[in-house]
Order: sequence, then structure tokens, then C-alpha cells
Amino acid sequence: MVASPETVVSVDSLWKVYGDDPERALTDNHKNSSKSDLQNDFGLVLALKDVSLDIIRGETFVVMGLSGSGKSTLVRCLNGLIIPTSGEINILGNNLSEITDDELTQLRRNSIAMVFQHYALFPHLSVLENTAWGLEIQGIGRRARNQRAQEKLDLVGLQGWEDNYPVELSGGMLQRVGLARALTLEPEILLMDEPFSGLDPLIRREMQDELVSLKESLHSGQSQTTIVFITHDLDEALKIGDRIAIMNGGEVVQLDTPDQIVLNPANEYVANFTEGVQSQSVLTAGDMVLPSSATAGLGNSPEEVLRVALDNDCCSNVHITDDTQLFKGVITVANAIKALEAGASTVEEYVESPTTFNAGDTYDDVLPSVLAHPTCLPVVDDDGQLVGLIDSTSLAATWKPDRPRIPRELASIVSEGIEQVLGKRSAGKGS
Ligand SMILES: Nc1ncnc2c1ncn2[C@@H]1O[C@H](COP(=O)(O)OP(=O)(O)OP(=O)(O)O)[C@@H](O)[C@H]1O
Ligand SMILES: [Mg+2]
Repeated sequence: MVASPETVVSVDSLWKVYGDDPERALTDNHKNSSKSDLQNDFGLVLALKDVSLDIIRGETFVVMGLSGSGKSTLVRCLNGLIIPTSGEINILGNNLSEITDDELTQLRRNSIAMVFQHYALFPHLSVLENTAWGLEIQGIGRRARNQRAQEKLDLVGLQGWEDNYPVELSGGMLQRVGLARALTLEPEILLMDEPFSGLDPLIRREMQDELVSLKESLHSGQSQTTIVFITHDLDEALKIGDRIAIMNGGEVVQLDTPDQIVLNPANEYVANFTEGVQSQSVLTAGDMVLPSSATAGLGNSPEEVLRVALDNDCCSNVHITDDTQLFKGVITVANAIKALEAGASTVEEYVESPTTFNAGDTYDDVLPSVLAHPTCLPVVDDDGQLVGLIDSTSLAATWKPDRPRIPRELASIVSEGIEQVLGKRSAGKGS
């Protein structure tokens, strides 16, 4: 049995307003006021506005938005560094507004780790000592803590640097030490506030790749680390996020999977972020399919199959499914005509097995085959059911959405051919 996803962080109607008497912003008269109105009228700064979300164990949850949109405030509320003005936060079953200071300290020490943009390493401690520092606070003995710190340094690619001091390391390496230090705590939840923003682009990309593979290696062990990752960079968000919450003016304006953020931005603010993104980088075959109504059954006659082709745009092939929509193969118009002329009662013997894609295949996976085939190719789901069809025009449509499905001229040439064959046949029947 597959375990149902477990919520590790639950945020309910969270508000954070800075300034004197912040509750004023939450009264019925003002709770719909904009950030700028609240600032102008009352001198209050709206940092979080009615944020509700759940984060699931093991996922990488990205919070993205422009500067000042409330990302850091949100993540600092999650580990109790900021007390919200109103709303509830539940972390690993603990309601943060109800637990004692001691319980909060324990939770922070044992279950939540945080990596900041500018990681404050202790200059007088070696890389190994910096990495083991959190365990020292927990009272873990030198041998055990150094052993675990060493493992994590190996994991982030810093073996051999244990005895060096921070001043001897580059920015990327310092950030790795920061990451190793957080990982050494083996936290259930890892909060990362723009950890890679200070790095130059090449190192940054390298760190993103490492985070993705690190995540896989963390998951191959017993515990599943949940990562909450803050960024203002959409490419970074798309690369590492399982889900992305986009914030604007303290509100979450869209919470979705990366492909949905790119394909269906909820408003102009999100669309402005996604404008320059090549949607191909997140598309799968399942996103690009066009529905196929040109389907018939194994037991259909050649004539029935040709009529299906005639009635449909994708008229050079008819796709054959069984009663449960399981994909069985394809019959070309040419083969259906052959079947008709041979007097076959069904098309069963004329069905071929074409190149087939899985709905999860990426744009890059499908591109070469689609370009090599003039006809539509079927896409099936994990159960083998036909999801739809894909051809070079559906790929082109991802670049130019208003492009017509198939060239009209081609459609009419094939249709005319079928009409002729069917016409000849009914004329023959009549004589
Ligand atoms: N201690 C504070 N006192 C007053 N206003 C604050 C305080 N901390 C944050 N703010 C304001 O709250 C809003 C949200 O700030 P926050 O730091 O959460 O944004 P952010 O999305 O993390 O921005 P950045 O990308 O620049 O880090 C901003 O308008 C900010 O000016
Ligand atoms: Mg911030």
C-alpha cells in the first residue's frame, strides 16, 4: 500500500504586519487594503497577508517572489524566529503558538535546520569544527559529531578541506560548508533562504545540481528531508522545486507544480516571471498531446475505420483501442483501404505497432522521433491507456500556440482519397 502524503508544515491564514498596533490591518475595514494603502494610511508594513499552505514530507517546496514580497518573513515564521500577527503554524504536529519556548528550542535543535544567504561561519573554527558545531550544541561527543560532520562534508564534495579555515575557502565552498552544517543535524525540515544568491552563475548552477542529487541521496536513506527553499530566480525554482509558491505583496498568488506555473500562470505578475522561460524545458508528452477522436476498436470493419479517419483531422492514421481504452496499435489509411479491398471483416490483422510515447516523456525525449515521423504518434499513460496524439505541429504549437493543427492541404488530399475509395465501393455495391 502506498502511504498517503504526510503534511509536515501547515500554515493557516497567516498574517504578519510590522508597525505599531499591527492588528489594525486585520480589522474588517482594512484587511482588504493594499500594502501601499496600509503603509500610507497607518505606517504599517504588510509582510504576509492571509497565507495558507501545506508542505508535504520529502518535497522541495520553493517560495519565490520579488524583493519585499514576504518570502523571508514566511520562512522565519516557520522556525519561530518571527511571531506572526495572526494565524496558525503547525510544524511536525506542533502548533507554534501553543508550544513552550523550551519545546520550540528543541524543535529547532532537532528537527529544523536553516541555511542563509550569507552563511556566518565561525572564522576561528576549522571546516570540520564549523560543520560539527550544531551537534556540539546538542551535546554530542567529539568522535560521534566529527564522524557525522565528515560524512556530510563528503556528501557536499568537501573531502580534504576539513582542516582548512573559512578564510581559505571560495564563496561556493563556504556555502557548501553551510549546507553540510545544516545536513549534519539530519533535520526533518531544511529551510534555505536564498542560499545560492551570492554565488556566481556557474557555481550557482553547480550547487543547484548538487542540491537535486543530494536530495536523491537523502531520500535513498530512511528519513525524508523536506526542503523549503527561497529564491527570486525562476529558473532556480523550476529546476529544484516540486511545487512553487509565488508571492506578491505578502500574498501567495499561485501555488503549483513547475510546469503549471509556466504553462498556466495565474496572473500577470506570474506571467511576467515566466515570460522568458522556454516552456519546452518543463513540458512532457502528456502536456503536449491533442485528444484523439480518431479511434476505433479491433472489431471495427475497414469501412468504419475509414469513416473515422474521414471525420477527423488526424486523418492518415486511426488509433485502435479496446473497450477499456487500452492502446492496441494503429491502422493507417493505406492499410484500411487494403483491408477493405481484401474484403476483411475487421481491421484486426492490419493493425501495426507504432512508436509510442509515455505521458511523462520530456520534450527532448520525443523531439527526434516526432521529427522523423510524418504522422501523429500515440501517447499512453502508465496503464497503457491512450492519452492522445503528438506530432510535429503539437510540438510547434508549444512555440506558437495559434498554429493550426495539421496543414489543411494535407488533410483535404487524404480526405479526398478516402471519399473516392468509399464512393467507388458504394457505387460497386449498388450495381
Ligand atoms: N523587521 C521589520 N520591520 C519592518 N518591516 C519589515 C521588517 N522585516 C521585513 N519587513 C518588511 O516586510 C516586507 C517583507 O519582507 P521580507 O524580508 O519577508 O521580503 P523578501 O521577499 O524576503 O525580500 P528579499 O527578496 O529582498 O529578501 C518588506 O516590505 C519588508 O520591508
Ligand atoms: Mg528575503
